[in-house]
Amino acid sequence: MILYYSGCGNSRWVAETLANQLQERLFFIPESTPNLDVQVDESLGFVFPVYAWAPPKLVLDFVQRMSFRQRPSYIWFACTCGDEGAFTRQVFSRKMRKKGLLLDACFCMQMPETYVAFPGFALDTPPNERRKIETVRADLPRVTQLIKNRTRNHYEMIWGTFPLIKTYLLRPLFYRFIITDRHFRTTNVCTGCGLCKKVCPLHNIRLEDKHPVWLGNCTHCMSCYHHCPTNAIQYGKITQGKGQYYFGKK
Ligand SMILES: Cc1cc2nc3c(=O)[nH]c(=O)nc-3n(C[C@H](O)[C@H](O)[C@H](O)COP(=O)(O)O)c2cc1C
Repeated sequence: MILYYSGCGNSRWVAETLANQLQERLFFIPESTPNLDVQVDESLGFVFPVYAWAPPKLVLDFVQRMSFRQRPSYIWFACTCGDEGAFTRQVFSRKMRKKGLLLDACFCMQMPETYVAFPGFALDTPPNERRKIETVRADLPRVTQLIKNRTRNHYEMIWGTFPLIKTYLLRPLFYRFIITDRHFRTTNVCTGCGLCKKVCPLHNIRLEDKHPVWLGNCTHCMSCYHHCPTNAIQYGKITQGKGQYYFGKK
């Protein structure tokens, strides 16, 4: 069984590919029950993007609420990040330990950057986006094999620089002060197509007079911003001219 979360499609693609190669059932975390019907000898995998040098809060909240009649026999996660995962594994493992579960393996993959709602954060160049995707595509069969073999004590992570400071000092500040949907707005090129509402993984957008209104339960995945066909969604002035990306965008 694989549980995944994805804002802009990178992690969805990884999750779908692994589920395919492993012949596993796949569930989208925001729409899944935390009462998991794990079968005898079934493994449990998670796929998610790195948000602020850790698993997204909504993934950790899900882990906290999880319950099963049958304990999974092998537990792994694969995270996608723009650059670095820092202490993502430690944060995830700690949550698991609190449930009496042990993480057996983890994997970390660099995929195209999606975060643009902070000054200085920008997308990759298109050649870099393609290079990252092709590198991961070529590596996924290896990851599949390691999971198939139920390799234990196997922890891959891209630490990056100053991981301790980023995960344990900057991350709480990011959640406290940066994540809010108050600064999302539409410019006058909004056509009222409603795609933003459809692609919001948390159903945090309502349409009023065909225009989006954000409802206060945002995780800054940037899906609405990146998918808008006319680039009419902006985050204050920070996103101006930064371009758009989502997995599969032509
Ligand atoms: C809110 C947010 C926070 C992010 N934080 C990090 C980070 O700490 N480190 C990193 O390397 N990439 C970070 N990224 C980039 C994503 O992890 C990366 O682009 C990921 O592949 C996006 O996956 P998705 O398309 O499945 O949403 C962040 C992206 C978002 C939207």
